[in-house]
Amino acid sequence: MMEPADRIAELRELIAHHNRRYHELDDPEITDGEFDLLLRELLRLEKEHPDLAGPESPLTAVGGAPNVTFSPVVHSVRMASLDNAMDVDELRAWGDRVLRGLDGTSPEFVGELKIDGVAISIRYENGRYVRAATRGDGTVGEDVTANVATIAGIPHNLGVKGPTSHIPELLEVRGEVYLPVATFDELNEDATRSGEHRFVNPRNAAAGSLRQKDAAVTARRRLQMWVYQIGEIKGGPSMTSHHQTLEYLATLGFPVNPEVRVLGGIDAVIDHCERWQQHRHDLGYEIDGVVVKVNDLAQREALGSTSRAPRWAIAFKFPPEERTTLLHDIQVSIGRTGRATPFAVLEPVFVSGSTVAMATLHNQDQVRIKDVRPGDTVVVRKAGDVIPEVVGPVLALRPEGSLPWAFPARCPCPIGSTLQRVEGEADTRCVEPSCPFQRDQQVIYWASRQAMDIDGLGERTIRALTAASMIADPADLYSLTVDHVEQLEGFARPSAEKLIAAIDASRRRPLPRLLTALGIKHLGPAAAAALAQRWGSLDEVIAADADELSAADGVGPVIAGSIRAWCESPTNLELVHKLRAAGLNFGDAERDRQRDGDASPGLPQVLTGKTVVVSGSLAGYTREGAIEAIASRGGKSPGSVSAKTDALVIGDSPGASKVTKAEQLGVPILDAAQFEILLETGQITGR
Ligand code: IVH
Repeated sequence: MMEPADRIAELRELIAHHNRRYHELDDPEITDGEFDLLLRELLRLEKEHPDLAGPESPLTAVGGAPNVTFSPVVHSVRMASLDNAMDVDELRAWGDRVLRGLDGTSPEFVGELKIDGVAISIRYENGRYVRAATRGDGTVGEDVTANVATIAGIPHNLGVKGPTSHIPELLEVRGEVYLPVATFDELNEDATRSGEHRFVNPRNAAAGSLRQKDAAVTARRRLQMWVYQIGEIKGGPSMTSHHQTLEYLATLGFPVNPEVRVLGGIDAVIDHCERWQQHRHDLGYEIDGVVVKVNDLAQREALGSTSRAPRWAIAFKFPPEERTTLLHDIQVSIGRTGRATPFAVLEPVFVSGSTVAMATLHNQDQVRIKDVRPGDTVVVRKAGDVIPEVVGPVLALRPEGSLPWAFPARCPCPIGSTLQRVEGEADTRCVEPSCPFQRDQQVIYWASRQAMDIDGLGERTIRALTAASMIADPADLYSLTVDHVEQLEGFARPSAEKLIAAIDASRRRPLPRLLTALGIKHLGPAAAAALAQRWGSLDEVIAADADELSAADGVGPVIAGSIRAWCESPTNLELVHKLRAAGLNFGDAERDRQRDGDASPGLPQVLTGKTVVVSGSLAGYTREGAIEAIASRGGKSPGSVSAKTDALVIGDSPGASKVTKAEQLGVPILDAAQFEILLETGQITGR
């Protein structure tokens, strides 16, 4: 283990380096959470070894030195930073310290959102906007007067709407400039279109936008600001509390966040913080915590400050949702229809409550847009309970000589057939019907809950069966014996018997499940049910031509074309033949026809009166197919989320603004499996 003195020196160097990257270059190499960990480790070591703590400690500094490209501005009152509480215990401990500092008088607190943006101080003289500066190192910042002047909502003349008697001679207000999430998404979409680099998160985008030499560029970025503090005031009204200060700032015309609350004691503070931790994504902008401040200004005075931060305020930080990690490799996985999906192989990293070692990269275009390359340090994000995603590379850490990742020309399976991308489609596919990777996926899908629902037949067992050449397609499952299964690792006689019984039971599954299980591209359970209702047997479905198929309710030309293409393949027809020989239920056309009176009965109208928005690509559906499936059950499917939306269905790469909007409005979000339940039953089972 390293000596404390060495580790302290190392940490100081690291912190100084990352401070510079964050504050001076707007190009951080690590996330805020990781930076906090370094700071805290240093803080702990310096506390344990006071002899090693010295004036050179970065803990006494606030940020980086000002960026040389903008003229320096000396803050007339230092712009302090805040100490952090990483959990409820630390928050309570801070509450105790405040109580002791006030000789046992219990204070009132104010809870404010901790906006994840860029701190700015704006100076007004006799009510006129004269200067804006960044925080810099807390003492000297950078002049961003022209840029901040472009931000909508920042008054150029104070009090035009309020009483002019309260306009101070001098006022310095402080607050956070930020970029709303929807604007950030649009900015990145534009960057993609024009081939520029995307911003990793809204905060970096806000910082970059403020650092524009041309203020007209800043103006186009549509930044916003919340004001939360007075730095200096001369000739203003007398005020006794922070809450009064905020009300006064609002009357002068400043944007003050509406989610400010006066809280009676530390228990109310903790409730407030925990509530916002749960609802952090309900806003249209990013927050990374809650700032808690003592309300009474005289009590603040009594508490005072340390060299770094005031004792009367604390930042309760939410657990980080972003981490950086090493991208070891980009590989492709082959799906049951041959779709080749690139995914990131990551150095495992703990983010938002779980360890992430792999993350989908969706398709070739997504990798190109994000320009992530093996060897890159990447930002991994898991906002809320959404699946992890690779946000983008940390360009500053890119190894020299790295080249853009090229989509492989060949399937990774032992056959290694050529991968093909159809013009105009986002997906690249392996078109070799005997590809063993596709075959594994086909059997996995066959056994899955939405298809033949074979209890106990999971991915591992299927791979073991194909590896031992005991099966080559789903039909082979029905020739397996207890003796075969018992040979597999992890199976004993009773478990092998159980699996064979489960496979046997699946022979009698109804026709819609059999049709689904065949894994025909675009043909999901909903359309399979429609086909079964209309034709009543697998043989009749196979015999129908494309026009007949697409005339069925819930089946469009895309699904019809896909079924016809599937039936052209001799491998597939051979599978049908083997399944018949294995005694599977192919449906009884005659019986079903009698029951249904030989008419197309249409689909149950389970979505009548419901509005369901679809975003991203859903396995088994084209966009039109998904909309068609909703409409054929009586529902509506407009292109955007509103207060009238009953559910948002998300597939791969959903639109971030749709997801945010749904979260803001409390609209349930459904995944592909929940969509199937919705189509079948009309029930909304999402979060
Ligand atoms: S008060 C002396 N209030 O968080 C107190 N800061 O980690 C000064 N921030 O430097 C800050 N929202 O850039 C305060 N409602 C809020 C805030 C807030 C975001 C930022 C600010 C500050 C940093 C500390």
